[in-house]
Amino acid sequence: MLLERTSMVVTGGNSGIGEAIVLAAATEGASIVIDYINHPDETAHLIAAVEAAGGHATGVHADVSKADDLQKMIQAAVDQYGRLDVLVNNAGIETRASLLETTETEFDRVMSINLKSAFFGTQTAARQFISQGTGGLVINISSVHEDWPMPGNIAYCVSKGGVRMLTRTAGVELGPHDVRVINVAPGAVETPINSTTMADPSEMKALDKAIPLGRMAKASEIADVVIFLASGKAGYLTATTVVIDGGIMQGSVGL
Ligand SMILES: NC(=O)c1ccc[n+]([C@@H]2O[C@H](COP(=O)([O-])OP(=O)(O)OC[C@H]3O[C@@H](n4cnc5c(N)ncnc54)[C@H](O)[C@@H]3O)[C@@H](O)[C@H]2O)c1
Repeated sequence: MLLERTSMVVTGGNSGIGEAIVLAAATEGASIVIDYINHPDETAHLIAAVEAAGGHATGVHADVSKADDLQKMIQAAVDQYGRLDVLVNNAGIETRASLLETTETEFDRVMSINLKSAFFGTQTAARQFISQGTGGLVINISSVHEDWPMPGNIAYCVSKGGVRMLTRTAGVELGPHDVRVINVAPGAVETPINSTTMADPSEMKALDKAIPLGRMAKASEIADVVIFLASGKAGYLTATTVVIDGGIMQGSVGL
């Protein structure tokens, strides 16, 4: 198994990409703290599914936009499993508003949940890795929109652009401590964050047509890459982004 004796925290781990990462990591032997902000029942079902498959998982209610909650979440992994090896900063939201429409409240919310969380999550995990003396890995679930403007979703793009620079700079700062930081940048993935698009057949048709591989990704296809990155088979990778987008960043076919 690729992640045996690996202690991992996944933020927003009870839905979409986070849930797929939890399930894939558990199958590979990881012990997981699932951070969640809502849907405690679904989280309990997920923990039961992990345990039924012979894995170890525990849930922690933590709001990633609060540094104290991030500390509580990391401490839960240390208390449960003796140390932390991998933090996956996955939790994220969108506003779907343009520059002219975005309110200060919306902007602050997106920045807190998408960028501040990754910043202080990385800081908290790095301090833990250094005090353990083990090194460690932070994987940020960014987006193709860390680099690619999306009109009508500007606060999201700005937050993911910040995550890109966080990963590059933190990766450089932390390299001497054997702490690595990697971004995973998915294109369009079939998860609840895209429920509006997925419910609109004409929007789906246009999107599928634009993607070189002709379809959205499944959450498990993002999770499989995260498992590879966390496995130690990617040990020379840091301060950079791995793009998983069906080719769309290189050019859309149908738009
Ligand atoms: N689905 C896509 O097409 C896509 C593409 C690129 C990047 N992403 C990124 O992937 C990540 C996961 O998104 P998803 O597609 O699985 O969507 P999702 O809505 O299914 O999952 C988002 C998760 O974040 C959690 N969350 C939100 N606010 C939180 C908070 N304050 N504290 C803790 N958790 C919080 C939600 O409860 C949920 O578990 C996000 O960072 C998103 O930006 C998604």
